[in-house]
Amino acid sequence: MKVNIKNNVNWIGKIDWELRKFHGNEYSTHRGSTYNSYLIQEETTAVIDTVWAPFAQEYVDNLAREIDLQQIDFVIANHAEIDHSGALPELMRRIPDTPIYCTANGVKSIKGHYHQDWDFQVVKTGDRLNLGSKELIFIEAPMLHWPDSMFCYLTEDNILFSNDAFGQHYASEYLFNDLVDQNELFVEALKYYANILIPFSQLVEKKIKEFVSLNLPLDIICTSHGVIWRDKPIQIIEKYLQWAGNYEEDQVTIVYDTMWNGTRIVAENIAKGITDADAKVNVKLFNCSTTDKNDIIAEVFKSKTVLFGSPTINKGILTSMAGLLEEIRGLSFKDKKAAAFGCYGWSGESIRILGELLEKAGFTVIDDGLKVLWNPTETSKQQCFDYGRKIIGGFS
Ligand code: FEO
Repeated sequence: MKVNIKNNVNWIGKIDWELRKFHGNEYSTHRGSTYNSYLIQEETTAVIDTVWAPFAQEYVDNLAREIDLQQIDFVIANHAEIDHSGALPELMRRIPDTPIYCTANGVKSIKGHYHQDWDFQVVKTGDRLNLGSKELIFIEAPMLHWPDSMFCYLTEDNILFSNDAFGQHYASEYLFNDLVDQNELFVEALKYYANILIPFSQLVEKKIKEFVSLNLPLDIICTSHGVIWRDKPIQIIEKYLQWAGNYEEDQVTIVYDTMWNGTRIVAENIAKGITDADAKVNVKLFNCSTTDKNDIIAEVFKSKTVLFGSPTINKGILTSMAGLLEEIRGLSFKDKKAAAFGCYGWSGESIRILGELLEKAGFTVIDDGLKVLWNPTETSKQQCFDYGRKIIGGFS
């Protein structure tokens, strides 16, 4: 079960190849995930985080095959969300008097989940836990991405245990960043950032600067999901700084839903206009009723301009679009331009409603949108094409 990370530090987590949905059904995990837990065996023994509840028994049984559980001196709970604390009840049932080191908010969260009065030891940034010849230094990381989130750093081995930060939902038996497919790794790391961390970008930047100011040498970042960054860990820190800075690529994303293909034809003709105006722009189209919403959000994250289209139905918009925009609203994208489009037959409220939702979601709405009556004619297709050209002409 154990995989050696460095010296007396071992990975003792769970690779979940089957996982396809996370946070209930909110986040798609096409490539599974891992719940990374770590065992440090110095003069004293510490366990950092556990695994998701369905694997609690398997985790504790495996751990008991590696060490006598009674030898565990400290449990560190960097984060109380169930995917990391889920095995605490089973572990603590076997070692009920072992202290759990976490933040003050961690105590609230863990008690809130499990209603147990374990021996909680509250730590703050800068507090140290002596493991013998090495120490763990705690660094609070509130709202990255929960109020209780915390990192810890192992001296001498120069390992940062970053919990969710720098993670990816990416199952791999390789476990280390230098061994996996680099394209897959960065696709998953970006999707994770875009769907989970984007609302906290300012804090990401601040926390990274705070860590850098501590002047702690860094050899390895042990995340709680996906691979461990042992090869140039600085590369994911640099990516996070880029992503936290209102990131965009030369991309326009067109998201739509359609009833009888009218709004799809509008989308495709807008795309042609954009490409005609600037062939270098990466234009991508997604039907949001058939495309994974978390994948769309990752594309929105990469875009400088995003167009959303829906026909009018019952004086409103199609439900796939409404659901997607609600999720996007919560993520608070910054500095991105957006506009609405869609077909209509009678009253045509969808464009106004989309515009209002886009504004509420924090986008800069660039105009009143593009409304097309009934199915597009050759004339209206030309209008869509011209609209696409205008989008790029005005904002490239
Ligand atoms: Fe991986 Fe916030 O839990």
